[in-house]
Amino acid sequence: MNRQTFRVKKVIEESQEVKTFVLDGSIEADAGQFFMLWVPGVNEKPFCFADNDPFTFTVCNVGPFSSKVHELKEGELVTVLGPLGKGYGIGNEERILLVGGGYGTVSLYLLAKQAKGKKIDVIIGAKSKEDVSYKKRFEELGCRVFVTTDDGSEGVKGYAVDGMKELLRENKYDKVYTCGPMIMMKTICGLAKEKGIQFEASLEANMKCGIGICGSCAIKDKIVCKDGPVFANEEAAYLLDI
Ligand code: FES
Repeated sequence: MNRQTFRVKKVIEESQEVKTFVLDGSIEADAGQFFMLWVPGVNEKPFCFADNDPFTFTVCNVGPFSSKVHELKEGELVTVLGPLGKGYGIGNEERILLVGGGYGTVSLYLLAKQAKGKKIDVIIGAKSKEDVSYKKRFEELGCRVFVTTDDGSEGVKGYAVDGMKELLRENKYDKVYTCGPMIMMKTICGLAKEKGIQFEASLEANMKCGIGICGSCAIKDKIVCKDGPVFANEEAAYLLDI
């Protein structure tokens, strides 16, 4: 773990509010780990890796910090601290299901890349068509992708858990991985638990230092930035109250 500086090689406009930044280098990282992005004079905030080679991250413009990040141009420098935390566990599962909600989907892309060789189904749950991220990139990795939108503007109308119920009717999975809003992960892990499927969830928490010092990210007796952010099975169930 150390601070490194990279140059922004490419900026991709995913939608009006979302940009992807591709940097000019790579970093050793497991899917699900995160890094702190430092914007001089503004703040430092955690982001997940969308890819580690090349180092890529995606940012939704939701406030003062992310709007500053959105001003980054190609050729400019960024300083990051990481990789931090504990990522997803990839074992000898043959068939896995990834369930992403909103921009949580982005951290599952690197997981799909690192779990190459397995049969991978992906559910992308979004509010509407404009919010569906990374669909094409997952397909390019050979994943089967299913989309659910709250308003039915793309894929099946409904929530990610509805898509999961549908897939479970005809498919068996060795493990379910999820990243997204807590309420969504609670329903996804709850369903996996009920069906006796292994599960891992990347928990959301209010991170400040990112390195286990400030305590702002604590959920129950766990320090999310250090013990997680990815938790598996009983531990995830305990933290998600399921
Ligand atoms: S963010 Fe400071 S302890 Fe986790």
